[in-house]
This record gives sequence, structure tokens and C-alpha cells, in this order.
Amino acid sequence: MWPYPRVVAHRGGGTLAPENTIAAMRCGLDRGYRGVEFDVMLTKDGIPVVMHDPELGRTVAGEGSIADFTVQELIVRDAGAWFGPEFEGEPVPTFEQVAAFCMQHGIWMNVEIKPVPGFEDRTGWVVAQTVQRLFAGLPDHRPAAMPLLSSFSFAALQAAQLAAPEVPRGLLIDDVPEDWHAQLRAIAAIALHINHLKLTPVLARAVKEAGFGLFCYTVNDPVRARQLLAWGVDGFCTDRLDLIGPDFADRPL
Ligand code: G3P
Ligand code: MG
Repeated sequence: MWPYPRVVAHRGGGTLAPENTIAAMRCGLDRGYRGVEFDVMLTKDGIPVVMHDPELGRTVAGEGSIADFTVQELIVRDAGAWFGPEFEGEPVPTFEQVAAFCMQHGIWMNVEIKPVPGFEDRTGWVVAQTVQRLFAGLPDHRPAAMPLLSSFSFAALQAAQLAAPEVPRGLLIDDVPEDWHAQLRAIAAIALHINHLKLTPVLARAVKEAGFGLFCYTVNDPVRARQLLAWGVDGFCTDRLDLIGPDFADRPL
């Protein structure tokens, strides 16, 4: 149930580069990572861009909702200077730019659909259709090559399922609902993506016995990572690319 890389670089380069930028993707690549997680939301004109926060201010200077800016207004903004002067001028990338970089370098993508509140359906739909279009007709249809969509928004995943049922989905959860199994089935998800702090060995076993992939975010301690793998976790994302190498899960305990 997990034909993907087992250790995945969170937001591109974790704590080593400005999140959700091409520089971050390059950082993960340079460290040997072949799997990346990043966040996608829509601009005012409906173009998917790679951003974590629905508002300007933290990684990109300014004020206001991402949904109030066009893609042309966003891609000229600096998404690197906040992190360090060496990243000044690093732009906000579109989803298609990041996908092109990943596809060129053979990096598998966990695309987190992160809608601006109120745009759940539309974001899920557009992101899924974009993935379907980018991967249509490619000679390599191995399951491991196709991105995995994930979201905390059930509505976004429902829309993604309608738009492109063959693009796989994972349900992101923080607090585990009683009906997690029914929720996964309802959107034909292949995996549960869970805050590792909320996982127990009992739940891990139940998820695996039910036939789903099990992915954890965001695991930054190698000792904890080892424990989660022993519980049956298939994969996890990490910010600490410097502490946890891409082959961590393949090495003996
Ligand atoms: O996809 C897992 C993880 O990225 C979820 O949290 O806030 O970093 O997007 P966040
Ligand atoms: Mg994320």
C-alpha cells in the first residue's frame, strides 16, 4: 500500500531552505531525497500556487488573503528573504513550476491540498485536474510515479475524487475521528496521514490491517522515527533533512 519513498522532505527542504519554493525542492534533491511534500492553494484567478499560509505575512511580505491576489501579482513576490539573505529573490512558485521540477528530477510528490478557507471544493478540483493533465500520456504509469494528493479538507478530497478519481488520495488528520475508516472509504483514499503525536500502536495496526497506507507528519527525531517504523508506519515527512537521511527507513535498526 505504499509504493512511494518512505522518508519525504516536508515543504521541500524542511528547516534547511525557505519552505515551498524551488530552492527548497533543490535542497531536498541535493540531499538525496526523492520524495517531497508541499502545500497548494488557489490564487484569485484560480491558479494553484505552492504556499502554506492562506494569508501573506510570514513567508511572503504583505497583507491579505492569497485568494485576493492574481498569480501574476504573487509570483513576483519574494518567498525566500524571510529565511536568509542568500535566498532573497526566490519567488512564490506555481504548482506547475514545482511539478515540472519534480518530474524532471524524478522526485515523487505528496501534494497537500491546502485551500484558502471557503475554496475547498474548487481547490481540490483544480489540483486534481492539474495532476491528471500533467501525468496524462506519460509513458511511465508506475503507481510510484503518480503524486499522492492529501488534505485536511474532506470536501477538497471529495472534489478531487470527482475531478480525477484515478489520482490517489490520502486523508490528513490531526485528532483521529471514530469513523476514520468510513471517511477513508467514502473518498476511496489509499492512505491515512496522521500527526505522529496522535498515533498509537493499536491504531497503526488497525490502519494497516484495514489495508491502508499509513503516513506520519512531521517526524524530526530519529529515535521517534525508528519507533514509528517499528509500529508499521509506511512513511513520514521530516523537517530535519540534516538528521534523517532519505534512506533512513531502509537501514537496519
Ligand atoms: O502533509 C503533512 C503536513 O504538511 C501537514 O501540516 O501544516 O505542515 O501543512 P502542515
Ligand atoms: Mg503540508
